[in-house]
Amino acid sequence: MKKIIITLSAVFCMLGFTACGNSTESGSAAAGTSAQTEAVTQQTQAKKSDEPAKTEQSDEEKAAPAQNDEQPQTEETDKGGKDTIVVYFSATGTTKGVAERIAGVTNADIFELIPAEPYSDADLDWNDKNSRTTIEMNDPDVRPAIANDTVDLNGYTTVYIGYPIWWGDAPRMMSTFVEAHDFSGKTVIPFCTSGGSGIGRGGSNLASQAGSGNWLEGGRLDAGISESEIQDWINSMN
Ligand SMILES: Cc1cc2nc3c(=O)[nH]c(=O)nc-3n(C[C@H](O)[C@H](O)[C@H](O)COP(=O)(O)O)c2cc1C
Repeated sequence: MKKIIITLSAVFCMLGFTACGNSTESGSAAAGTSAQTEAVTQQTQAKKSDEPAKTEQSDEEKAAPAQNDEQPQTEETDKGGKDTIVVYFSATGTTKGVAERIAGVTNADIFELIPAEPYSDADLDWNDKNSRTTIEMNDPDVRPAIANDTVDLNGYTTVYIGYPIWWGDAPRMMSTFVEAHDFSGKTVIPFCTSGGSGIGRGGSNLASQAGSGNWLEGGRLDAGISESEIQDWINSMN
């Protein structure tokens, strides 16, 4: 009887240890999961802290109600072997929409130029002789700074350059852009949106300011232009 009791005690003891072992194991798994979660959280936090530009741009957006609602994108060029890039400025979003459609049709990279000092509604008031845009467009030598001109045109053979028409011309910030880059060996296609005016002297002014590149005439595109109409426009230039 004593032997039976001792044997049963030993069996229960072993079962208890095994159960303990299992619970320790699941404890480890839980700890592992927690560690993984921690690592992912840290990675996410590290990534967030690596993206100061986004925070800065959120602030810019707050300060610039007239700008587009979407985050300005400073890392749009992926250099994934694409030979075409669309670079554009859009104060109120119209040119942006067209630029995105051109990039879609041409399978191009796309880069939005952001003014260092965003244009407010008051700045864009063309009825005000003293508004910022009126003053800038009255002076062909003004060169408004660009907040994010990190565009690297190396490797691209075709560059679309888009902007809104301001007083029949390209915004002075576009001059800042073209004067800062070398377009040698590239086909450059200016395009604009407007309230009705054609591309006018905007493209040719930018071409002479750039001083390099094979500049095509380009053209004014309707805000609501479709992808097939864009394709037709591109075909008409070939
Ligand atoms: C200061 C200023 C001047 C403008 N001048 C002209 C002009 O000369 N001719 C025209 O058709 N539209 C003119 N527009 C209208 C814009 O070209 C048009 O709304 C454009 O599509 C806006 O593009 P965005 O939304 O990409 O900024 C002007 C707009 C502004 C703010």
